[in-house]
Amino acid sequence: MVAVTEVADVRKNYGSVMQLAGEQKVPDVFKLNDKIEECRTVAAGGRAIPVVDLSGLHGEKRAELVEQMRAASEEWGFFQIVNHSVPGEYMDEILKVHTEFFEMPMEEKMKYYSDDVRAPFKYGVGQVATSYHEQAWKDHLTLLYQEKMDTSKWPKVPARFIEITEAYNHAVNKLKSELMQALSEGLGLQSNELNDVFGPVQRTYTNFYPKCPEADRVFGARPHSDPNSITILLQDDVGGLEVRDLKYREWVQVKTIPHAFVINMGDQMEVFTNGKYRSISHRVRVNPDKNRISIASFISPLPRTVVEPSPLLVGEEGPLYKGDNFRDYLLGFYGNDINEKLYIESIKL
Ligand code: SIN
Ligand code: FE2
Repeated sequence: MVAVTEVADVRKNYGSVMQLAGEQKVPDVFKLNDKIEECRTVAAGGRAIPVVDLSGLHGEKRAELVEQMRAASEEWGFFQIVNHSVPGEYMDEILKVHTEFFEMPMEEKMKYYSDDVRAPFKYGVGQVATSYHEQAWKDHLTLLYQEKMDTSKWPKVPARFIEITEAYNHAVNKLKSELMQALSEGLGLQSNELNDVFGPVQRTYTNFYPKCPEADRVFGARPHSDPNSITILLQDDVGGLEVRDLKYREWVQVKTIPHAFVINMGDQMEVFTNGKYRSISHRVRVNPDKNRISIASFISPLPRTVVEPSPLLVGEEGPLYKGDNFRDYLLGFYGNDINEKLYIESIKL
């Protein structure tokens, strides 16, 4: 296992990840081990995660759209949305300005480096080892959303980084409430139920995956499910995200659609809904020719919130998951990083 500080040294020794991208050989810490064969993409007969057009969400089409999101959350645990409330120009601009951040020299980015997982704003390199590889082929930037964010320690360059990052996060926070309400209605619950319990925390995580000379020997993200309640993901036009198709047990590539968000259910949602909304394994392949950027907003309960199957949603099958507070769930989840089995399996009754 490689400690985060050593990882930072590994990255420093290689210079920036952008320089790494220019190398012909990938350092061993990034390479997939002997599991590489089972990691190959399998085409899935043209199946694709549903796309929901949210025009009319606040009008006469609401019931139909709520139903589409419910069905997708049950069948796939994933869907894309278009014509939502986040302005397209915010999406374009944040992708641009965050790309510019990652393209800065390593010394500049390392000013924001921290290995404190709770830091309100930080640049990060690497992860702990997993059973697939010691290191994912990516860097990241993460920030904790607040209604009034303290931006004093955020980068002053690239220009407009602060302004755009703030505007985008406020717009995503509004979208989060709209989605949580619709997902509540899909379950037959009061509109605010999911938002109040599962929506208070928003952590935004920008992933930067440089082009890779040996792209099929690394993962941008190994197969995992998200531990939180829902994830709102913006990706650029490169592609690389793959979702496990529950029906055929194959990996399905997620198409890139301009100005769309990819929405997925996390483990807390699966537990609370007693398995109705599914938290599905997904992974990220990287590209041999192009850098890729994606921005995930992780929506979560508060750490002390105990999440267990809702009595309103448990039928004759009885509760299927053991309840836990979110903080302890996360500790188990990250402690489980070197295990290939999804952590949620371990709390099934
Ligand atoms: C992730 O799920 O870890 C990232 C998704 C993406 O980059 O597309
Ligand atoms: Fe994920």
